[in-house]
Amino acid sequence: LKREAEEKIRAASDPEGLKELRVKYLGKKGEITSVLRGMKDLSPEERPVVGALANEVRNRLEEWIRAKESELEEARLQARLKRETVDVTLPGQPRPLGGVHPLNAVIEQIEDIFVGMGFEVAEGPEVETDYYNFEALNLPKDHPARDMQDSFYITPELLLRTQTSPVQVRSMQSKEGKVPVKIICPGKVYRRDDDDATHSHQFTQVEGLVVDRGIAMSELHGTLLAFAEQMFGEKLESRLRPSYFPFTEPSVEMDISCVQCGGSGCRMCKYSGWIEILGAGMVHPRVLERGGYDSERYTGFAFGMGPERIALLKYGIDDIRQFYTNDLRFLRQFQSV
Ligand code: PHE
Repeated sequence: LKREAEEKIRAASDPEGLKELRVKYLGKKGEITSVLRGMKDLSPEERPVVGALANEVRNRLEEWIRAKESELEEARLQARLKRETVDVTLPGQPRPLGGVHPLNAVIEQIEDIFVGMGFEVAEGPEVETDYYNFEALNLPKDHPARDMQDSFYITPELLLRTQTSPVQVRSMQSKEGKVPVKIICPGKVYRRDDDDATHSHQFTQVEGLVVDRGIAMSELHGTLLAFAEQMFGEKLESRLRPSYFPFTEPSVEMDISCVQCGGSGCRMCKYSGWIEILGAGMVHPRVLERGGYDSERYTGFAFGMGPERIALLKYGIDDIRQFYTNDLRFLRQFQSV
């Protein structure tokens, strides 16, 4: 019995088989147990001899089974370690990193500069009423300047905004006569243009508006200079040129010395040395009134710029369509911007 058990225990290859053997020999109805149980039928002389022998066998079996148990446990652990080994020296899987789109990066820079000067960032709807997009900005229905901006109309009264200027009147109205009004509004605008290297039917603008007592042209000029210096560097030269917008009077456009050639003349600035970067002016009294401000007490200035244009200049990009077509070879160049 002992020999048979020893062999079987040695051959056991899994914990389940071993458990069965334990039951078979040492369990309540096991073979050793029944030997011990049968002792009562033996003579008093035989009892101690058989008892000692049976006890010894039981102890040995117990010992073997326990040894086998830890052997199997160890083998199982080793197998598992082998299976789950991680080679920490293997190179990792590189994950592609995204980046901020150059146009968004420029819009964020513009926002940061104006927020640094105390402006709040405002928003307005892209689907706008004819009233806010034109009428309230001093462009009545028959105004020839409406032709300046070919529009996408949805109904006779609704259109995709052609400029962020409608946010001027919306911002004033939401301030309910309180001063100062000091906001910028970045956003998408739409015009019926055929797309080419310098035109896009959808592009972005950043509008600016300040209304307070005693705001003069010099505040406008100072603000724009501070902006241009922070955006393009202090070496840059700039000038204001008289211009015309129905919602500002007087109106100006700001030119900066060409970023590419430094003013000596190149293709980018059409050999003039100057590049226009924004339109601006003193808010027209009629627009102030539409916004709920008394034009006798308050004055203001407004400006509007195109982030695409600023990004084109700043990074020497020659085709506006690059911003919208998501060619990764283009975008990757701006990953660190
Ligand atoms: N809205 C004008 C444009 O789209 C720019 C502008 C804004 C001009 C504010 C003056 C004041 O061309």
